[in-house]
Amino acid sequence: MLIRAATENDFEGIWLIFQAVVANGDTYVFSPQATREDAHDYWFGPGVRSFVAEVDGAISGMYKLITNQRDLGSHVANASFMVCPKAHGKGIGEAMGRHCLEEARKAGYAAMQFNFVVSTNTGAVALWKKLGFSIVGTLPKVFRHQSLGMVDAYVMHRFLDGSGA
Ligand SMILES: CC(C)(COP(=O)(O)OP(=O)(O)OC[C@H]1O[C@@H](n2cnc3c(N)ncnc32)[C@H](O)[C@@H]1OP(=O)(O)O)[C@@H](O)C(=O)NCCC(=O)NCCS
Repeated sequence: MLIRAATENDFEGIWLIFQAVVANGDTYVFSPQATREDAHDYWFGPGVRSFVAEVDGAISGMYKLITNQRDLGSHVANASFMVCPKAHGKGIGEAMGRHCLEEARKAGYAAMQFNFVVSTNTGAVALWKKLGFSIVGTLPKVFRHQSLGMVDAYVMHRFLDGSGA
């Protein structure tokens, strides 16, 4: 697996994964009808650093690293991850998570915060806990899950100092 900075040439692969992930309406607030422009802004908009995971030359997942808040909150990073549904459970999400933490450390951030982890997204919650994140808050019924109805979302956080993930 190769994890590297994304380029415009990767957008077709990113778009296919984005569509497959948002189609389920169970992990991201994007509508299943989100457009190519929505996806492009999300992955290549101003201030966004995106990375792709290539397996056997094919884009199998991507993540983006951004600053969570402007100015006085800019020491905290934020990130988003998507793995091709056909490639779940093969360690791609974990490898990208570790890569992201390292990139954030290199960029000088003091912490990483996920603002909206859908509470029923057990795979993601387990992965972020494995990588050292804690649930620091619960937002009640903020997500209209497409099969479960209104569900909570978590704010998850970890500092970036010290060893570990
Ligand atoms: C969440 C996601 C990024 C995980 O990526 P992945 O490549 O499937 O996960 P990995 O194979 O790297 O799993 C690593 C660890 O995550 C946890 N995990 C992943 N999927 C899991 C699942 N379905 N159930 C329980 N734990 C799971 C486990 O701790 C696993 O470690 P283990 O294999 O030692 O048990 C991926 O499923 C995804 O893209 N989902 C849709 C979009 C999404 O939810 N993004 C995150 C939003 S916060």
